[in-house]
Amino acid sequence: MKYQEILNQGSKILKLNNIKSYNLDSEILLSKIIKKDRSQLLLNLDNKIDEIQKKAFFKYINRRKKNEPIAYITGFKEFWKNSFRVNKDVLIPRPETETLVEQVLNEIDIMSKKTILDVGTGSGCIILSVLNERRKCTGVGIDISKNAIKLAKYNAKIQHIKNRVKFFNSDIDNFYTGKYDFILSNPPYIKLNEISDLDKDVRNHEPKLALNGGIDGYSKIKLVIKKSSELIKKRGKLFLEVGFNQTIKTLEILKNNGFQNSMVVKDLAKKNRCIISTKN
Ligand SMILES: C[S@@+](CC[C@H](N)C(=O)[O-])C[C@H]1O[C@@H](n2cnc3c(N)ncnc32)[C@H](O)[C@@H]1O
Repeated sequence: MKYQEILNQGSKILKLNNIKSYNLDSEILLSKIIKKDRSQLLLNLDNKIDEIQKKAFFKYINRRKKNEPIAYITGFKEFWKNSFRVNKDVLIPRPETETLVEQVLNEIDIMSKKTILDVGTGSGCIILSVLNERRKCTGVGIDISKNAIKLAKYNAKIQHIKNRVKFFNSDIDNFYTGKYDFILSNPPYIKLNEISDLDKDVRNHEPKLALNGGIDGYSKIKLVIKKSSELIKKRGKLFLEVGFNQTIKTLEILKNNGFQNSMVVKDLAKKNRCIISTKN
């Protein structure tokens, strides 16, 4: 069977199952099977696929038709300038989180040596992206999920920055190690009763632990701010990602915990997303 024919079959199944990006997803999954990038696939649509590859492709299509995110099927997600290993134990890195990375990099000179803590590190995408570009800095990533920490360590290894980062499986509430120049966090911030309104891809497949911000959506934001005020150096900076409608209340929580000069930055979709705040 030719690539073109199998692609059409895959797209058709996904379309029938209401997957919006049916053509693109079919192409990405076939590229993964034939171990070529998408452009190579599209330039060689008359090439033929063998039986083993065909079986593997339809296995992927079956997973995708049940709304499993593409990144969990391929096992990787592009974020900032790297490819991160992901699985069902971690949130898939989001483009809006790149705003936080960009803001952190703006604050660190290329040669400066800062100590950085990433709270709720997940795949490690934030801290590893920063350390990749600021080679004199060192970092610590913590997460309440043991499996997330395993994956973050794996990502540090494949990106060759294991020697400048440590990962700990810990609840931020019980973490007392070190004092940091910068603390970064994309905490869970979805209201408990709004999780069921999220896209099926997210609500049925991504870890609840990474989404659930408690009844009002602020329980983890409050916790991270309170603990950061103890773990941060004087004049240190806290970088937070929050929901687009959570900035006003978050600014108030920051003020009540001794943070000042807060600045809100919009993401690429022009939504309020990132807050940078300095400790008194
Ligand atoms: C929204 S995800 C962010 C993951 C990653 N930093 C990113 O931006 O893609 C939040 C992460 O916080 C972790 N987490 C939730 N509660 C925590 C707690 N009390 N202490 C430490 N980590 C926590 C979750 O396991 C999850 O990995």
